[in-house]
Amino acid sequence: MELVPRTSPVVLLLLSLLGLSTGAVIDWPAEEGKEVWDYVTVRKDAHMFWWLYYATNPCKNFSELPLVMWLQGGPGGSSTGFGNFEEIGPLDSDLKPRRTTWLQSASLLFVDNPVGTGFSYVNKSGAYAKDLAMVVSDMMILLKTFFDCHKEFQTIPFYIFSESYGGKMAAGIGLELYKAVQQGTIQCNFAGVALGDSWISPINSVLSWGPYLYSVSLLDDQGLAEVSQVAEQVLDAVNKEHYVEATQLWGKAEMLIEQNTDGVNFYNILTKSAPMAAMESSLEFTQSHLVHLYQRHVRHLQQDTLSQLMNGPIRKKLKIIPEDCSWGGQSASVFQNMEGDFMKPVIGIVDELLEAGVNVTVYNGQLDLIVDTMGQEAWMRKLKWAELPKFNQLKWKALYSDPQSSETSAFVKSYKNLAFYWILRAGHMVRESPAAFVVGSQLF
Ligand SMILES: *[C@@H]1O[C@H](CO)[C@@H](O)[C@H](O)[C@H]1NC(C)=O
Ligand SMILES: *[C@@H]1O[C@H](CO)[C@@H](O)[C@H](O)[C@H]1NC(C)=O
Ligand SMILES: *[C@@H]1O[C@H](CO)[C@@H](O)[C@H](O)[C@H]1NC(C)=O
Repeated sequence: MELVPRTSPVVLLLLSLLGLSTGAVIDWPAEEGKEVWDYVTVRKDAHMFWWLYYATNPCKNFSELPLVMWLQGGPGGSSTGFGNFEEIGPLDSDLKPRRTTWLQSASLLFVDNPVGTGFSYVNKSGAYAKDLAMVVSDMMILLKTFFDCHKEFQTIPFYIFSESYGGKMAAGIGLELYKAVQQGTIQCNFAGVALGDSWISPINSVLSWGPYLYSVSLLDDQGLAEVSQVAEQVLDAVNKEHYVEATQLWGKAEMLIEQNTDGVNFYNILTKSAPMAAMESSLEFTQSHLVHLYQRHVRHLQQDTLSQLMNGPIRKKLKIIPEDCSWGGQSASVFQNMEGDFMKPVIGIVDELLEAGVNVTVYNGQLDLIVDTMGQEAWMRKLKWAELPKFNQLKWKALYSDPQSSETSAFVKSYKNLAFYWILRAGHMVRESPAAFVVGSQLF
């Protein structure tokens, strides 16, 4: 069992895939990099917070390295908090330098979206985004403002990386950004989207939960029958475009899985889910299914320790956060307002991206349940992209994170502007929990 932290295979694979330098993990402390942050008012009463770190590479100026925007899931999970301090930013949540930060390979732009997420806020409850279209149009305002004010980034390759629900947003944002660049309304060198364990076609996840869990001894025949039955109900609701009902049934499917698996962790099937933290009393929820869904999908992105960091030393450092705006304080409302959007698929948007020639990279953790790999393969088979048959004919290739090692860390297929990575021993998140670290061993 190797306990020395190593660069996650996900990081290595993706950075190399995008032609970014993986380099050697440099020894800290490195030179303090430049960072800037601000709010953009994207609509009346809707204020979006972003935080940019310029790449810090000992041999290269930031202008020779790409810019990566990171979008968290939930919806309601904060990129500036979770993605930054728990996953890929320069510091971890103890404010210690992270050896595996992506900052050596790219400048990083964290954005708290949809509005109300993280340090973003709305002034009127009617101002929350209610669907993907609104999430996308808000982000276009933010990106236009950002690239207009930071001309030094207009020409360097710009990638959108995402996780979970962030992947759905990344697809929508990517397509709109592509059009805006064509029309000349946004000046940027858009280079592609990377969709990590992404919520592209949730029904395909729900339909594969039963077979996946059954195949790894986490459901018995009875459990499989129960889960399959409710999955069919979700499918029926989605087919009828009854999306709010589909969301309720999705919550029911999760509860059935929890009961039948003795509490499997939806983010890594080799672990059990932590007992849920008590809900804050400020929540406006009246519908219990939404409370459960919020607990499962957003609360784990804003644990108490991260909240204390963001609402303590970080807000003090940033100085511009309004006094009465607390990090994560509106996330439950962000989630609740998107209720009618959760179960809508965006396979058609991925098709449009592919047709337009935008680079699309899909990657998925082997141990993820919420967005399991079988479900991802299922929606990919539904793509209408003319090159899909050629992609499908390819055999996958094994990849190793360390050239000296024979341990397979991933498989990949890539044809023209589409690539799919099967990431082994990884769950939903790029960076795994300590438990997964032990179980998956040597992942980092
Ligand atoms: C880095 O790039 C920026 C933008 O192109 C430029 O203004 C700056 O002088 C460069 N710095 C170094 C040390 O080369
Ligand atoms: C909008 O909300 C912020 C954060 O809660 C608050 O500080 C600000 O005063 C509000 N602005 C208006 C015009 O109500
Ligand atoms: C897409 O990726 C390929 C391979 O990495 C690269 O050669 C190409 O320039 C990329 N296309 C765009 C539009 O960035």
